[in-house]
Amino acid sequence: MFDPVTPQADAISHLFVSVLIICAVIFLLVVSIVTYAIVRALRERAGGEQAPDGVESENRWLEITWTAVPLAIVTGIFVFSIVTAGHSDPGHDGPPDIIVRGHQWWWEVVYPKEGFATANELHIPVGQQVHLQLESADVIHDFWVPELARKIDMIPGKENHLVFEVDRPGRYQGVCAEYCGTQHAWMRLEVFARPPDEHAAWLATQAQPAQAPQNDSTRAGLDVYSKETCNSCHTLRGVSARTSPIDIGPDLTHLASRRLLGAGILQNDQGSLFKWLKDPQRIKEGCLMPNFQFSDEDATSLAAYLSGLQ
Ligand code: CUA
Repeated sequence: MFDPVTPQADAISHLFVSVLIICAVIFLLVVSIVTYAIVRALRERAGGEQAPDGVESENRWLEITWTAVPLAIVTGIFVFSIVTAGHSDPGHDGPPDIIVRGHQWWWEVVYPKEGFATANELHIPVGQQVHLQLESADVIHDFWVPELARKIDMIPGKENHLVFEVDRPGRYQGVCAEYCGTQHAWMRLEVFARPPDEHAAWLATQAQPAQAPQNDSTRAGLDVYSKETCNSCHTLRGVSARTSPIDIGPDLTHLASRRLLGAGILQNDQGSLFKWLKDPQRIKEGCLMPNFQFSDEDATSLAAYLSGLQ
């Protein structure tokens, strides 16, 4: 949050740093006065002076000052906060560009205009306003990418909205900022902001159906996928439709294009996929994917197929 890359996060960062400075000055002032008073009282006592019998009972100007100055400071911060709230939340209209849905414990990311879904990665263009619609499939989650925007809750049965515009290409870390169960800590999101033409190319690739198996090993992998009912929860667009009406597990169509597995818990490569398939509960205890007791051979071919899904 100290390195904002959107005007929206910039406004929040400004407010935070300003309030921090104001509070630091007040803190130093109070500490100095208290220290002065203590030192002076100790000296006077050492010099044999009696403590005063009572404080002066009335000093109108002093009372007006110590009421008016804090009031002015608090009012100033209040106004600054309202202005910041306006800047950090520009408002939205029309349909969202992207729908982000929180699940225990991963992020479903839907591009409604392009008609596809991905998971745990949010890809956005630089220099264009992005309108996110935030939802939850189960419990309350909270979307927070400090460099991009304010925190915002994802509440079951409610749609929240967030609008921002990224100035600088890059990869930004997001987290779920509301405790949502055992694996709340492993509910990470990565945001990739690219120039509009690169982003358009990414959209076009992701909109493609999943790659069909190209050799015997990957064909065996797809057979395991079908036989073991992976399609109850997952989608392989164009290859294997999901049978449940909602996304229980992430869309796997372009799984290999993603940097991480399990919402951030593993690097995404064939070895990690193998480990994950052998026992997801050992890697991410409590996640919805059960241990299918795959043989090493089945897990190897399934990992080979999935790790080719660019
Ligand atoms: Cu989702 Cu914490």
